[in-house]
Order: sequence, then C-alpha cells, then structure tokens
Amino acid sequence: MILLDIIKSNFGNLSDGSQIFKYKLINNSGSFVSIINYGGIITEIFVPDKEGKLENVVISLPDPKKYENNDCYFGAAVGRIAGRISNASFKIEDDIYVLEKNSGKHSLHGGLKGFSRVIWDVKEVKDTDFVGAELSFFSKDMENGFPGNLNVKVLYTFNNNNELNIKYTAAADKKTIVNMTNHSYFNLCGDYKEDILSHYLTINADKVLELDQDLIPTGNILSVAGTPFDFRNAKMVGADINKEDTQLKNGHGYDHPFILNKDKDTEISLYDKRSGRLLEIATDQKSVVLYTGNSITNDFTLYNGVKSRDRLALCLETQYYPDAVNQKNLPSNILIPGEIYTAATTYRFKVL
Ligand code: BGC
Repeated sequence: MILLDIIKSNFGNLSDGSQIFKYKLINNSGSFVSIINYGGIITEIFVPDKEGKLENVVISLPDPKKYENNDCYFGAAVGRIAGRISNASFKIEDDIYVLEKNSGKHSLHGGLKGFSRVIWDVKEVKDTDFVGAELSFFSKDMENGFPGNLNVKVLYTFNNNNELNIKYTAAADKKTIVNMTNHSYFNLCGDYKEDILSHYLTINADKVLELDQDLIPTGNILSVAGTPFDFRNAKMVGADINKEDTQLKNGHGYDHPFILNKDKDTEISLYDKRSGRLLEIATDQKSVVLYTGNSITNDFTLYNGVKSRDRLALCLETQYYPDAVNQKNLPSNILIPGEIYTAATTYRFKVL
C-alpha cells in the first residue's frame, strides 16, 4: 500500500541561481500533486483514468527557468490581483495607486513581479487523510504599486479522495485590494493526447461579464441564454468557440468571468469522455474566468516532450469579480486592516 506522503526534492535553479524545491503530495492511492516554492506553481497533477492509469492533467514544464516570467502563468498562484486592473490604476478613498502596465495600458495578474513570480516559504502539513504545503509570502507596502504590507498564505492540501483544496488568506496593515486565483491549465485526456475542445464543460452561471477589446469589463452583465456562453448544461468546449460573436472575438475565444449562481455545491465541471476523467470544482468565490488557452504560444516543450499550443488546455480561474475596484456595477473588494481575506476552492478528480 502506498502511504500518504510529502516528498521534497530539488527542482533546479532560477536564472539568478536560486534553488527551487518541489513538494510532491502523494495520497494513499498513488495520485499526486506537485507544488514548487517559485510562484506557488502546481507543476503536475497525476490522477487515474477509468482504467486506473495515472497521467498528468495539467500543463507541466520540466525546469523552473521555463516558468520564470512566463506570460502564460502556467499553474501559478496569481495575486495580489488576478486578471486586469483597468488603466493600471485604482483609487481607495482619496488615494490613487498606479500599477505596472503589463497588458497594453492595463495591469495583469499582479504586475511584472506578482505572487506568481516570487519565492514563497513552505511549511509541510500532514494529517491522517491529507498531506499539504502551506506557502507564505510577505508583500511589502507599495510592492508592484499596491498599498499595505500584506501577509499572504496559500494552503494546498491533497486528500485520499483525490481532492485538491486551495485556501488563500491574507491580512494587510492598510486598506488594499486582494483577489487571488490558481492558473492551472487543465487537460483531462492525460499527458495532452488531444486539445480541450472535445472536453464537456458545465458552468452553473446564468450571467457573464461583457468585456471590451482589451478584456476589461464594460459594466454590462449579459445573460448567457441563447449565446455561446451558455454552459448551464454540459457542452463541448469547442461547440460554439468559433461562432460569430463579438464577445468571443474580443476574447479570441473564451476569456470571460462567469458569475456563478451559487446555488449548487459543484458549480463547475469538466469531463473527458475518452479517459473518463471528471473534474468537479466547488468554490466560495463569486466568479470563474474561463480561459480556453487562446494565446498559449508554441515556445514550450512540456515535461513529456509535447509542444505547447493554443487550446491545448484551459484555465478555470475561480476568483472575485475582476477589476471590481474600478467597476461601478460590481461591489468592490477592499481589504481593511483587521479583516482577513479568504478564498477557497476544491478540485475533485473522479472517473465516470
Ligand atoms: C487571462 C488572459 C491571459 C492569460 C495568460 C488569463 O487569466 O484572462 O487574458 O492571456 O491569463 O496571461
């Protein structure tokens, strides 16, 4: 019998020589999830198909240097703010904060050296039916332009039911904004045998945020009914992706925040018929950004030699509404000193 375990190993070095460690969380059926201390990146998730064969279901790169400053944000813990802050600035009370522009005139995924590009402290966690890694980072006041010293933690746990839980917490000493997500690119075929267009996706969302050509919310909230954005019943990811539709054109595919209905435990599911793998996602967050890997470049050789390409995998980024601090129609998400930001998402891997 395989025992629940954490195996720490050397994952190589960043270009400045920093040594990076991998923490492999193995459950008692041999499934495993690996996390590195650079960017809190999930580098691999090996779970069984319907025949019991363990294969990787996320995009994996073989070397930490390949993850460095990677514009695809493969597997990363994204923060302080996931998604775009319009015009790379925001206001809290009378103070205007200016961020780095790294997506045209906007700021994306916390700026040039956001949480996905820093080294985290790691504490191993063990219990009777799960193993985990608790990552901590101290983000200084005005780092990347954000106000307030922020103590942030990301707790990854993997249990004997093939459930990966990610819990984020953060506390600041000044009013600030925090919205974190995980940027794993899922492909349930296992080892990327096919792209994700034939995966079946369900998102329990009646509404989606309309985006402009820069992928910034316009302020309009659209009904998904009768549009390519209706995933309320399982639908192939590729079924409507090439339809004539302004929103799909703006996103070069799906790159949109769906507003979760919040009336079911599992609001998102992804299924690959051939392998029988099913991923169910439960979250306490208000939205999920479906990003269908529309701009994965061909520059990467994945861990098993497969070349990266568009639509090879997709992200389901559970999070608070993007750009909320600048959006009049959305409630803001200012974190106040003394309060604790929390967000939790569970990824359940099953077979059908
Ligand atoms: C964003 C995309 C972006 C991608 C990679 C996603 O979360 O929504 O617009 O291209 O990350 O950076």
